[in-house]
Amino acid sequence: MASTTTAGETLAVAVAAAEQQKGEEEEEEEEEEQVINPWEVSAKGGKIDYDKLVDKFGCQRLDQTLIDRFERLTGRRAHVFLRRGLFFAHRDLTDILDAYEKGDKFYLYTGRGPSSESLHLGHLVPFMFTKYLQDVFKVPLVIQLTDDEKCMWKGLSVQESERLARQNAKDIIACGFDIERTFIFADFSYMSPPIYKNIVRIANCVTGNKIVGIFGLTLEDYGGKFFFPYIQAAPSFPSTFPHIFSGKYSNLRCLIPCAIDQDPYFRMTRDVAPRLGYHKPSLIESKFFPALQGESGKMSASDPNSAIYVTDSLKDIKNKVNKYAFSGGQDTLEKQRKYGANLEVDVPVKYLNFFLDDDVELSSIREEYGSGAMLTGEVKGRLIEVLSEIVERHQRARAAVTEEMVDAFMAVRPLPRMFH
Ligand code: TRP
Repeated sequence: MASTTTAGETLAVAVAAAEQQKGEEEEEEEEEEQVINPWEVSAKGGKIDYDKLVDKFGCQRLDQTLIDRFERLTGRRAHVFLRRGLFFAHRDLTDILDAYEKGDKFYLYTGRGPSSESLHLGHLVPFMFTKYLQDVFKVPLVIQLTDDEKCMWKGLSVQESERLARQNAKDIIACGFDIERTFIFADFSYMSPPIYKNIVRIANCVTGNKIVGIFGLTLEDYGGKFFFPYIQAAPSFPSTFPHIFSGKYSNLRCLIPCAIDQDPYFRMTRDVAPRLGYHKPSLIESKFFPALQGESGKMSASDPNSAIYVTDSLKDIKNKVNKYAFSGGQDTLEKQRKYGANLEVDVPVKYLNFFLDDDVELSSIREEYGSGAMLTGEVKGRLIEVLSEIVERHQRARAAVTEEMVDAFMAVRPLPRMFH
């Protein structure tokens, strides 16, 4: 009798194991086509299928109804990144809007892994958008510089990561954040009892299996990668910042603007939040800004011609756009006049879509370029103007950021006027 049970159990275990393996193989096949996580973004054929990603991650699409509600509630025009679909997905953004409608408060949290000296426009996207959200909602903001993360993933030395974090802080400050509502911190220097206690609380809710599953780690990976996710999770909870959020603000909601590759960190965070007595953080998530060569995922830091950098000169911008921006225009004048450009693949149009605020001008460019009345050179010329203005403005603002200002933004201090 006993041996029959054992045989039955053995069979059941074998069937379950076979099924699990099959499941894993299917998952692997799917993952081969498209891998998006915080440190790898790649897709077969180069083009990311964002619809599939939203389904796979289980986040929600940011549709027109929600954008309309956003505009109605705030009385402000939606940011061009929102109107034109760069920020395209979310998790429980409606909770934040509900709270705002009732007069309840929340805070914003975003961050940057300081892995390079100079930033490209894609790096600025979440900060430009967060600055807009801060202005619209008049709420506090915490910005995490994950200098530790870059030691774990990019093999940077501790010292170099810390240096880059400070350099990057200047570019972030140059986006125009309000010092009365903004706290910037770098992990190495902010690792204090409050954040550390939350890191441990979060870590106690997550098994090794879970971390490996979410982040695709193996036992060949260094240990840091297994515990870093808790460090990025912790700022989603207000008690990580007792100097800002104490008393009546100790269970504030949190809204995180980020690129969609950061979703895995916050899926984990949202999973543990209720167990620790906190609200799940809400997310508002962007696509990746396309490379000059076309829509093949993130721009590559190793190829300076794949992106416009905030340090580029006007001459660089002109040269890069003219030489490298992938054109959907026809290759001869006659053909362009006859058939018009393919706007679906045209990079100058994609860039204008995100940086040309004027809806009327954009639609007239689309129409004329698409029909052949306008030529690639003219569209590129307009893009050069638009980008030059943004980069020049950034460079001027960046040059005005002093070491004292960095210290002031990074000082551990209360923000008494954060909701004014
Ligand atoms: N991991 C992010 C990066 O490499 C940095 C980061 C930390 C972040 N906290 C965040 C990004 C919160 C968005 C939101 O860039």
